[in-house]
Amino acid sequence: MTNSEIAELTEKHVMNTYTRAPVAFVRGKGCRLWDADGREYLDFVAGIAVNALGYAHPSIVKAVADQVAAITHTSNLYLIEPQARLAQRLCELSFGDRAFFCNSGAEAVEGAIKLARKYGHTKRGEQCDKIITAHESFHGRTLTTITATGQPKYQKHFQPLAPGFEYVPFNDLGPLEKAVDDNTCAVLLEPIQVEGGAVRVGDDEYLQGVRELCTARGALLMYDEVQTGAGRTGKWFGYEHSGAVPDVMTLAKGLGGGVPIGALVASEDAAVFEPGEHASTFGGNHLACTAALATLDTIADEGLLENARERGQQLLDGIRDLHSKHAAIAEGRGKGLLLAMELKTERARRLAELCFEKGLVLNALSDTALRIVPPLIVSAEECEEALGIIDAGLQDLAAEGE
Ligand SMILES: Cc1ncc(COP(=O)(O)O)c(C=O)c1O
Repeated sequence: MTNSEIAELTEKHVMNTYTRAPVAFVRGKGCRLWDADGREYLDFVAGIAVNALGYAHPSIVKAVADQVAAITHTSNLYLIEPQARLAQRLCELSFGDRAFFCNSGAEAVEGAIKLARKYGHTKRGEQCDKIITAHESFHGRTLTTITATGQPKYQKHFQPLAPGFEYVPFNDLGPLEKAVDDNTCAVLLEPIQVEGGAVRVGDDEYLQGVRELCTARGALLMYDEVQTGAGRTGKWFGYEHSGAVPDVMTLAKGLGGGVPIGALVASEDAAVFEPGEHASTFGGNHLACTAALATLDTIADEGLLENARERGQQLLDGIRDLHSKHAAIAEGRGKGLLLAMELKTERARRLAELCFEKGLVLNALSDTALRIVPPLIVSAEECEEALGIIDAGLQDLAAEGE
């Protein structure tokens, strides 16, 4: 089928929840994509920070093919070797003692919210149910995770929302100090906010202050690392940048290298679920856990954390150079390969379109910011190529009158 045939079919039969570019990618290799009409692109979206190893990486292809040939799914009624090994691996890489597996970021955050409520109930009594999150946060699209999300635009039309949430400004300890009381079971934060429309890095002192506050008041510190986890920021997990270690974290996106998986990782003290209290039919099946193990192995074996740090710095330096040339740029920010380029005007969507026309896949995070999240395998040459296309796109934007 061609791009336009797929567009027609989608328009007719797929529920209208996404604004999509009229292009269907049908094949990928490394950081390159090809669409249904045969056109080639350089991909700096990576399936929204999912495809850590790019496309068709031999290690994932082999691990997944071998696993599917052996067994894909049995359910959590039985032991699952790749699940046990993945839990061990995540605990060795992080603060965690135990992991629970599910299928998406939102499902992982739902699990964290339930875990926090049970923690509060059992440690301090049933009145201890308040969860504090940040303004401009993003935690998913289920009913409870849109409630946790501190952005009213995601909640509109879906009231009544789940009770028991309170919101405070991000990167500002004062309001949080006032909000955390005896009935607070958890504070839930992204160490770097992304979907709030910007890539906003939590200050080290703020995150360390939140850690101390949670410890002092007996509340869990829970990090939503759905986007920051699994190497995206140049460390295994976003919390490592500040050293403020959480009690619970959620993972998804990059963990499975493109195969759906979510995870909830907790310290022994916080891992309070007992049999029957939480479950997920597909969660932690052989296929997803094998893909995640192959992804983590490849990140380690190919030095991709270091690559994320170096390529991220190269891109930030490149954006700084473009800044001296193009008045439209406000700044570049982020960590590792979780970056945003902020414009002074509301032309980010147009700039993404202009770059797309030149063969670079980019996503506008908001009206003013481009998200730059290539696969962690991206090379120095590919980063230069992308910067060249952004430069050309900015020239076109200027010609249009910015
Ligand atoms: C921090 C964070 N939490 C949760 C989610 C939801 O993940 P999913 O779309 O896999 O449900 C996202 C998705 O962008 C995210 O960035």
